[in-house]
Parts: sequence; structure tokens; C-alpha cells
Amino acid sequence: MEIKKWWKEAIIYQVYPRSFQDSNGDGTGDLNGITQRLDYIKDLGANAIWICPMYKSPWSDYGYDISDYYKVSEAFGTNEDLYRLIAKAKEKGIRILLDLVINHTSDEHEWFQKALANPKSKYRDYYFFKKGANGKPPNNWRSYFGGSAWEPVPNEKNMFYLHAFTTKMPDLNWENEEMKQELYKMINWWVEKGVSGFRIDAIMNIKKTMLAGDAQKDGSDGLVAIDKYIINQPGIQDLLFDLKKNTFAKHDIMTVAEAAVPDDELENFIGNDGFFNMVFDFRAADIDVPETGEWFLPTNWTVNELRDALLTAQTSVQKMGWGATYFENHDQNRSINKYFSRNKEDISEVTKKMLATILLGFRGTPVIFEGEEIGMENIELASIDEYEDVATHNQYNNGLASKLDEKTVFDLVSYRSRDNSRTPMQWDASLHAGFSTATPWLPVNPNYKVINAEAAIQNKNSIYHHYKNLLSLRNHGTFKNVLIYGKTVPKFADLDNIMAYERVLNDQKVLYFANFQNKTMEFNPSDFTGNLLSNNYDELLIQDGKFIAQPYQAIVIDRNV
Ligand code: NOJ
Repeated sequence: MEIKKWWKEAIIYQVYPRSFQDSNGDGTGDLNGITQRLDYIKDLGANAIWICPMYKSPWSDYGYDISDYYKVSEAFGTNEDLYRLIAKAKEKGIRILLDLVINHTSDEHEWFQKALANPKSKYRDYYFFKKGANGKPPNNWRSYFGGSAWEPVPNEKNMFYLHAFTTKMPDLNWENEEMKQELYKMINWWVEKGVSGFRIDAIMNIKKTMLAGDAQKDGSDGLVAIDKYIINQPGIQDLLFDLKKNTFAKHDIMTVAEAAVPDDELENFIGNDGFFNMVFDFRAADIDVPETGEWFLPTNWTVNELRDALLTAQTSVQKMGWGATYFENHDQNRSINKYFSRNKEDISEVTKKMLATILLGFRGTPVIFEGEEIGMENIELASIDEYEDVATHNQYNNGLASKLDEKTVFDLVSYRSRDNSRTPMQWDASLHAGFSTATPWLPVNPNYKVINAEAAIQNKNSIYHHYKNLLSLRNHGTFKNVLIYGKTVPKFADLDNIMAYERVLNDQKVLYFANFQNKTMEFNPSDFTGNLLSNNYDELLIQDGKFIAQPYQAIVIDRNV
């Protein structure tokens, strides 16, 4: 029997604060803007908000480079604004989750500044400072965002510091006990301030297997991918256990880790005594990215592979724990563009509703990224200069360096750019989509006159209402228990392009079914008897004793009749 927990019953709405709602007319979203929109989030059916980093930051990676863990960025308001948001949200039954970025800080963080100012200070050991050989970095690791992962320390000969992400994001040394205690103190402090949990960033990177000297290069830049040496390294579980013991375990909070965990290790991560409540699985979200992580190289994924990725994640996780389910976040392009990149003509309300149906029936805590519920799409910007995201520029430069032609690189990189999901939320058809009265920090998608929340709310047939209906099935009434606590049982898995599963609990059974292709397919109607709970078409077509699934039709059926 499943253990009941509030965080299993949660529905998370992810807010990218820069892009959600500007309340003070400076073109940048802010915390008071989120407070203004709480009713919108509640009406949709969500009861938790994950706010991407809102801390003080110089914005090298748009907030994932934190220069003060205890302070809200001036761009977003004040700590008091955050406390007010937490209180107002609580009144409405909504919990607030923060992003916890503890693999690295900003180079402008006080600890790093002190480490730079005085090589003898204790803060040196909070990070990785290492000597190079003859002016060359200590080893040839490539950072995730391209180039060496070692940056020369200004004014010190032959000295480097490690940064797995941008040069402005030095990695923290988790072997340093005092540094860890500082992080633990900070985490507990935020919980005392009323935060209900955390999404935990890049946590699989905290243990390093240091390399003295170069490894065999894997690219023409002479470097080697860093992940083999810093992701899920031997010893990491001791660190995670200690982290949990000193922080999360002391409170009734939700923890969602950004952690691609091998199936055979999941028990330690998300089992009953796991380090976290749940992890994000990357198999489906990154299906269009080659293993090397290079956005400028196309992949030939199939719908069957996508189905298998999604359902394998479901069946692996349910053996021992819980997952967070999602299609979009601030690191992804919009899901409708990703999953229909080769058949753009099929992008429509029907296909958007189909994706929603597949996602919202899964076992796990759903995470909806702002704008996904109104079917927001990728943006097409004219040139690389218009993109803000650091990863987009790095991928573009790497693509050019690999001698591909400019157009191919630009097309693929702009399609995959993280800015696609970071464009301002489209609230209405007024100037700047109701996001701000000033020119927004990133352009609004020109389709805002058609795709916007106000229009979606007014149209009872919209994708927004489709989301709302699917979420309400899960939130209250007859199906709540089976849709939250039931197991996922794959269905029709031997049929090409059919994505289907049942949620099963005791004698209750609910079928989620999608015909993920632009053609009809015939089925025996006896496999579909029951009450129709959701449909992205007006009807179910039964002809000559067959159920004819329409192109991209997605339905939900209560099979218990
Ligand atoms: C994962 C975050 O989601 C991403 O936006 C960020 O660039 C990296 N971690 C580094 O913090």
C-alpha cells in the first residue's frame, strides 16, 4: 500500500520569475508579480509553486549563479516580498518551493571573493583551487558550457579554479566540512522562513574524482567531457546522506532533485529512506539531444522510443519510490515544438491537448512550466545576437567550431535554445502580452495575440481548460486515489505510435490512451468501454464495430464499469 504524503498529492507550477509577471514596469518579472497571479495558479489546479532562483546574482546563468543565498535579488524585489508571497500563497493552500543551487556559487559570492583576495584564507578550500603545469590547466576537462573547466586566477601565476558551468560559477568543495555546515544552515533557515521544499540543482555533480593531468581527449578542442569525472562519483551517496540528515530529514518538506539516477541505484535516492522525495527523469525530455549533449546535431528519435522512455521511467520508479513528471522547464524548448519538430504542420490544439493527456495521467507529482498550460510555443529570433542564454551561445560557437554551416547550426541551436521557454508569459492580447508595461528583457512571442491566458480562459474548449479538467480529475472526487496512488500499467505497448497506460488501484482502472500519429487506427471497442473522462476530439468514432482512433486523438476512460 502506498504511503500517503502531501507532496505526492501536489501539483507543481514552475515559475521562471524573470518572465512570469512584471509588477513594477521595468521589463523584468518579479515576486510581487507572482503574488498578483496566485489566483490564476490556484484556478488551474496547482497547489505548489517552484520558483527558479530568485537570489542575488550577477546573472551569468540567469540566477543559477548565486552571490548571496540569503538575499532576494533586487531585480525581483525584497525578502519581505518573498515572505508576503509565501504567506499569501499559504492562505490559498499553495506551497512555495525554492531552487537550491549548492554545487556552485557565483564568483561574486563573498566566499569566493575572500578566497581570491587571500590565498591563505579558509575560503580557498571552499572551492577547487589547483596549480597548473607551465601555465596549462591542471587537467583537460571541458566545462558543460564549452571551453576549459579551469579558469586562471587573476594575478596568481599558474593557479586555476574549477567551474563545471560558466567561468562565473566556481564549484564548491563538498569535502570541506565548514562549507557544508554553512549550506546546511542556509537550507534550514529558508525552511524556517516558511518554504515548503526545494528543487535541487545539479546535485549529482557535488563529488569530484579529481584528475591530475590530462585524460584522452574526446573532441577537436583537445578537451574531455567533465561529466564522467563529476557526475554520480563514488562517495557521493555519503555526501547526500549527510545533506539529508542535517537538513531535509528535520522537516516535513518536499525535495525534488535534478538527478539522472541509474535505475539500479534509484532505491537509495527515492526509496522510503532515500536522499530525496523524488527526482526528475531526463530520458524523455532529452530524447532529441545526442548523448554528447550537442544541440547542433540532429537525432532521429521515434515516437516508440519516446513512449518507451516515458513508460520505462514510470515502471522503474514505481518499484520503490516516487517521481516528478514533466515535459517542460526553463532548460527545455517548448514540448509541442520538440515533439513535433519534424511535423510542424501537425502543431495544433489537438496535439497540444494530446501531450497534456499523456503527461497528466502519469504516476508522480506533475510539474507544469509556466505557459505550457496555454500551449505556448518556441520563439523564432532573427539572429544569435538576440538570444540571452549563455548555453545557447556556447552551443552555437561549438557548432561553428565543428565546421558545420552557419544556417544548420543556427536552426538547430535556436530550436533547442533555453530562451524558447523563457520568453515572457502571455497573459492577454495587450501590449507586451500583459507581462509588463515596459519592453520585456526577452521578446514576447509574436503569437501572443492568439495564444494568451485571457483568451484561453474564455474559450471553454481551450487547451487551458483541458489541463484544468485533467488536473481536477486528479485533485478531487472518485478518481483522486487511483490517479495519485495507482500503479502505471503500460497498454498496447506492441503497437507502433500508440502511447497508452492504465492507472490501477485495487479494483479501479483508468485508461490514458493517445494515438500519437497523423493517421487513424482501428481498435476493438471492448478495450475502450467505460465512462469517457477526457477527449481532445468532440466524439469517439465507432464504425462497423470498430473504435477508429483519430489522428492524435487522446482519451481518458474510466474502465471500471
Ligand atoms: C541546471 C539548471 O536547471 C540550469 O538552468 C543551470 O544552467 C544549471 N543547472 C547550472 O546551475
